[in-house]
Amino acid sequence: MEFSVKSGSPEKQRSACIVVGVFEPRRLSAVAEQLDEISEGYISNLLRRGDLEGKSGQMLLLHHVPNILSERVLLVGCGKERELDERQYRQIISKTINNLNETGSMEAVCFLTELHVKGRDNYWKVRQAVEATQDCLYSFDSLKTRKEEPRRPLRKIVFNVPTRRELPLGERAVAHGLAVAEGINTCKNVANMPPNICNPAYLAEQAKILANEYDNVSTDVVDEAQMEALGMGSYLAVGRGSANESMMSIIHYQGGDKDSKPIVLVGKGLTFDSGGISIKPGEAMDEMKYDMGGAAGVLGAMHTLAELNLPINVIGVLAGCENMPSSNAYRPGDILTTMSGQTVEVLNTDAEGRLVLCDALTYVERFDPDCVIDVATLTGACVVALGKHASGLLSTHNPLAHELLNASDQSGDRAWRLPLWEEYQEQLESPFADFTNLGGRAAGTITAACFLSRFTKKYHWAHLDIAGTAWRSGGKDKGSTGRPVSMLSQFLLNKSGVEQGE
Ligand code: BES
Ligand code: MN
Ligand code: ZN
Repeated sequence: MEFSVKSGSPEKQRSACIVVGVFEPRRLSAVAEQLDEISEGYISNLLRRGDLEGKSGQMLLLHHVPNILSERVLLVGCGKERELDERQYRQIISKTINNLNETGSMEAVCFLTELHVKGRDNYWKVRQAVEATQDCLYSFDSLKTRKEEPRRPLRKIVFNVPTRRELPLGERAVAHGLAVAEGINTCKNVANMPPNICNPAYLAEQAKILANEYDNVSTDVVDEAQMEALGMGSYLAVGRGSANESMMSIIHYQGGDKDSKPIVLVGKGLTFDSGGISIKPGEAMDEMKYDMGGAAGVLGAMHTLAELNLPINVIGVLAGCENMPSSNAYRPGDILTTMSGQTVEVLNTDAEGRLVLCDALTYVERFDPDCVIDVATLTGACVVALGKHASGLLSTHNPLAHELLNASDQSGDRAWRLPLWEEYQEQLESPFADFTNLGGRAAGTITAACFLSRFTKKYHWAHLDIAGTAWRSGGKDKGSTGRPVSMLSQFLLNKSGVEQGE
C-alpha cells in the first residue's frame, strides 16, 4: 500500500474514488457540502430521498456524480458529529478501507482525516488512519496454497489535511504510522505461525532477521547450555518436557549514547503451552500457540523502533520455550532453584509463564536498565477480569505505570491498571520452598504479577498481561491482533522525545 498526504479541495480531485463523511441525521460534512454545490445538489437530493441516514459506518458508493472529476464518490456515515470519538473514528476508517478494497477502487483520496475528533490533532488522525488501514488489509495466508485476493485491491490512498501548512506534520504521521504498522505486521506474522514451525529456534531466527535488516540492531541467543551455566533452573524446568530446545533471544538496539541506560522489554515466548503435566483441557488448545504473543509483541516493537531509528537504547528479550508433558517434564511438587537463588514449589505446571519470565527478569539485571517492561499472555484470570478490550497493567513504579497508561491512551491500545498490594503476596506462601508458583483462584492476574515482582527489585518494572488482547479467538476472525505493539511503540516514541503532534 502506498500512502501520502495532500491538501486540496474535493472537487479538484481526479481519482478513482473520493471519500467524504455524512453525519447523522443526513447532514453533510464541510467537504461533502463542497461536492454537493459543484454537483448542483446531487448529494443532498439523495439524502433527502433517504438513501443514507449517516449512521456510523453506513456506506453509499456513487458513480459519475455530475461535474465531479473523480470516477466515484464514497459517502461514509460518521454518526452524530458531536459524538465522534477515537474508537468510532478508527472504525469508520476500517469500514471505509474494506469497502474500497471490495468495490474496485484501486486508489482513493480520503477526506475523513478532516473530521473533528475531540482532543486529537491532524498528526493523530493521519497516523491512526494509516495504522487502521494496514490493520484492515492484513491477512495471514503464507501457508494457504490458494490465496484469495480481491480482483482490484486498493493500492494507493491519499489522506487530506486542511491546509498546506499541515503537510510536513501529515508526512511525519504517515512515516510513524507505517513504522508502527510494520511492527504490528511482524508481530502478527510470527504470532499466527503454527507451533510446529514457530518454536523457540524460530523466534531466535526472527530476531536475527531483524538484526540483518537494520545496522543498529544485533542479537545473541542464550541456549540451554548457557542457561544451565547461569543457573536458570526455573526457565529450564519448563522447557524440559519438550523436544524443542529453550532459547532466549536478546535483541540489542543502539540508537542513543553508549552510556545511556537501556529500556528493556521482556516477552513471554511460550511457542506452545499444553499445560505440561497439569495438562489443559482440549477445547481451543490450539490457541495456546499464541502463548508467545508477548515475545511477538516485543519483536514487533523492536521492528518499529529500528524503522523509526529512535535515539534511545532498547533491549528486547524473547523468552522462547515450549511447555509439554513427557517423562522428562517437570512435575507438580518439584522445587526449582531460580537464577535469583530463590526457590519455588511448583503446584501447577500450567503456571509456567512466570517460571520462564522470572529467570529472564533476573538475567536482564546485567543491563542496568532504565526500566523493564515484561509482556505476557500470563493468566486466564486477566481475560475474566478485563475481557478482550484492555491489557492488564501492574507496576511497582507509579511514574512508569503512568507513562504506559499515557501511551495506551494515545495509541488507543487500551490498558487498565490493577493493584499490586502487599496483601496479595500471602497467597504465594509455601510450606516447603520460598514460595509457590500458584496463588489460588482469587485475583489470579495479581498474584502472578506478585510472583514476578519478587524478581524485579533491582529496577523500575511494569508488567503487561495481554492474555485477553493478543489474539481474537474462534471462527474465521481468529488471529493475532498485533497488540500491544502500538502501545509499546508509542511509549518508545514518547521516551525518545521525537516530535509528534502540532
Ligand atoms: N498461557 C496461560 C494463560 C492463558 C490462558 C492465556 C488462556 C490466555 C488464555 C498460562 O500459562 C496459564 O496456563 N495460566 C494459568 C495459571 C493458573 C494455573 C494459575 C491459568 O490462567 O489458568
Ligand atoms: Mn500455562
Ligand atoms: Zn502460558
